[in-house]
Amino acid sequence: MIEGKESAAVGRPLRYGMVGGGPGSFIGGVHRSAIAFGGYGTLVAGCFSRNPANSAVTGRELHLDPARVYASFEEMAKAEAKREDAIDFVVIAAQNDSHFPAAKAFLEQGIHVMCEKPLSHTLEQALELKALAKKKKCLFGVAYAYAGHVMAKEAREIVRSGQIGDVVMVMGEYPQEWLMDLLEKTEGQRQAAWRTDPKQAGISNCLGDIGTHIENMVAMITGLKVKQVCASLDVIGKGRSLDTNAQVMLRYSNGAKGLYWSSQIAAGYDNGLKVRIFGTKGAVEFVQEESNYLKVAMKGQPPQRLSRGNGYIHPGASKNSRFPSGHPEGYNEAFANLYAAFTSAVRDVMDGKKVKEADYDYPKIDEGIDGVKFVGACVSSSKKGAVWVDVD
Ligand SMILES: NC(=O)c1ccc[n+]([C@@H]2O[C@H](COP(=O)([O-])OP(=O)(O)OC[C@H]3O[C@@H](n4cnc5c(N)ncnc54)[C@H](O)[C@@H]3O)[C@@H](O)[C@H]2O)c1
Repeated sequence: MIEGKESAAVGRPLRYGMVGGGPGSFIGGVHRSAIAFGGYGTLVAGCFSRNPANSAVTGRELHLDPARVYASFEEMAKAEAKREDAIDFVVIAAQNDSHFPAAKAFLEQGIHVMCEKPLSHTLEQALELKALAKKKKCLFGVAYAYAGHVMAKEAREIVRSGQIGDVVMVMGEYPQEWLMDLLEKTEGQRQAAWRTDPKQAGISNCLGDIGTHIENMVAMITGLKVKQVCASLDVIGKGRSLDTNAQVMLRYSNGAKGLYWSSQIAAGYDNGLKVRIFGTKGAVEFVQEESNYLKVAMKGQPPQRLSRGNGYIHPGASKNSRFPSGHPEGYNEAFANLYAAFTSAVRDVMDGKKVKEADYDYPKIDEGIDGVKFVGACVSSSKKGAVWVDVD
């Protein structure tokens, strides 16, 4: 429970800052766009790059006060905390190695955090962030963006209502083709370069980058805890040291079984996240690239294709819908849905309400910790020759 001290946010837009999202970057701009799309906050400060000149370029492009464009996130956290008009929350959109130190710097100043996944390089770091967030009474979101899709939430409503019976088998996949060639050797391919570098990416590339989206999506829909994994992380591509393909068998705490495949060397695939949940009475299937729909199949009956925006969608999912059916919503809206929930929690804390983070529908630090545990257990299993390993 986080209890706000004062009524600080009434009647004004929330102010936020960003770490990462500098020139040529990917996800920082997506966060900015999603926050602006829903009017969830105004960007007022940033450290957009490790290179101060590049950070200044982005600051100018975004029309920020140069005094609030910082050379490092450490400086930014300290300086912002001292201001009367300090940021209300920070978005950490830099690559993996900055997540822990940056989140820590802002939590120490009592600033709420939305952090990119994977949460941290190690479980110790993840647990330290959780303890610090609790101590400083800060909210902590983890940007598992796909959890924001309306029809993924509809899958959650259906599975958790018991409609498909007890979950017995889960299939998850996330194939991409973009690292079939050694893209990291090409000048300017920064996203490929840091993902294939263990110092920046951490102990895993492919599984940490996209396998964690499968893990989070399944957990969000089913509520199942992964008990054990048996994994093979495959390093495909000459000279690479991190996985570009990962196969994982899973055992969940309720006895259900799972199989996840993530890959960056799968020709023909862009962002092919697909999750199928099979129960004793039926099944659901969510496909990220067709995120306005959900397949529901009940045993012995013709499968149905549910369409977002229609009256038959459960309120717990449809309240996140913005447009009528047939006007597609996608990645931006999914991100915006995370921010709708996160900023409503931030505002409630600032307005002095008692906030139980569990009541707000965004991925929290525990989900981030589960992701770090999952990757750690899979790496350990793979190193031992693909043996079964406990996740907790
Ligand atoms: N949730 C999602 O769907 C999703 C999608 C893509 C990427 N991501 C995550 O987002 C993060 C960034 O990925 P990306 O593809 O945008 O990378 P990127 O390389 O395109 O951008 C990273 C940005 O962070 C900046 N940066 C790095 N270290 C910094 C520091 N210490 N201080 C300030 N800025 C710093 C870089 O200069 C760059 O501008 C990764 O952790 C990745 O896993 C999440």
